[in-house]
Amino acid sequence: MGRGYLKTNPDFKQTLQAYCQQVDSALERWLPQPAGPEARLQEAMRYSVIGGGGKRVRPVLVYATGQAMHVPAPQLDSIACSVEMIHAYSLIHDDLPAMDNDDLRRGRPTCHIAYDEATAILAGDALQALAFEILASDPSLSCNAQVRIDMIRLLAQASGSLGMAGGQAIDLGAVGKTLTLAELANMHRLKTGALIRASVLLGAMCSPQANPDTLAKLDIYATCVGLAFQIHDDVLDVVADTATLGKPQGSDQMQNKPTYPALLGLDGARKLAQSQHQQALAALEGFDSRADTLRQLSAYIVERGH
Ligand code: IPE
Ligand code: IPE
Ligand code: MG
Ligand code: MG
Ligand code: MG
Repeated sequence: MGRGYLKTNPDFKQTLQAYCQQVDSALERWLPQPAGPEARLQEAMRYSVIGGGGKRVRPVLVYATGQAMHVPAPQLDSIACSVEMIHAYSLIHDDLPAMDNDDLRRGRPTCHIAYDEATAILAGDALQALAFEILASDPSLSCNAQVRIDMIRLLAQASGSLGMAGGQAIDLGAVGKTLTLAELANMHRLKTGALIRASVLLGAMCSPQANPDTLAKLDIYATCVGLAFQIHDDVLDVVADTATLGKPQGSDQMQNKPTYPALLGLDGARKLAQSQHQQALAALEGFDSRADTLRQLSAYIVERGH
């Protein structure tokens, strides 16, 4: 995935790999070891989070924001794990027969195919609960109690009916319908944008340098990147192949999903993703070179898979 872009940016590739390793070992520590009568559920949780080739974009955004804001990566492990767990839970449920009914994810059978539907539903539920447990209890997260509560609230809002779950409900309700551009943008803002925005803001909130002005700039960056991410995901569903994607190509078209390529055409969708990328870069103008990983991530998000 994203081979072209990463080949021409070896330093960024290294940073990306380092952050992926950082979150992978933290996930390994936080996920329960399968044991006892609930072992099958815990295996399904691990199956969906570890070893399946996810890009880890949300945890990497957490660490890259920390880099821009002078927060050392190890202090951000629990935040990085919690956003990836919410994401993994959303993917497990997204693939269920009642939702997108897909059988391939990250190059392997989806959770409900590898296990069964009930286990997949419970694995999603348990990952969501674990995400909040981690954020509430990690002693390495060095912030005061009020900031921790604010973080938990932000992640809950990004995941709930005014965030990811709400966006998924709009997505399912819109199958076969033509949404206006504004309705489509709202759906993407919720189903994908909210968790990406939360990843950036959570990475910044425990920084001693966090202030309303900086957070507002990061908020614009993250909102643009979040929309660009889902537009590009829609484009890849049309132009990439199943082996590269690790999930079934053409799933959106087959299910008549409202997408940017369906509404604007491929070129129109690509141009919009590029303009979001440019706006994301503009939001970071006042930041120094420590924000370069955030800048490169924004480019990677609209160029990967080509
Ligand atoms: C897929 O997300 C679902 C969307 C929100 C578009 P990713 O493309 O980040 O999936 P992984 O984590 O790399 O598998
Ligand atoms: C899913 O969007 C967004 C989520 C909240 C999981 P998609 O349905 O487009 O994601 P993929 O293409 O299956 O990964
Ligand atoms: Mg979906
Ligand atoms: Mg899907
Ligand atoms: Mg998709």
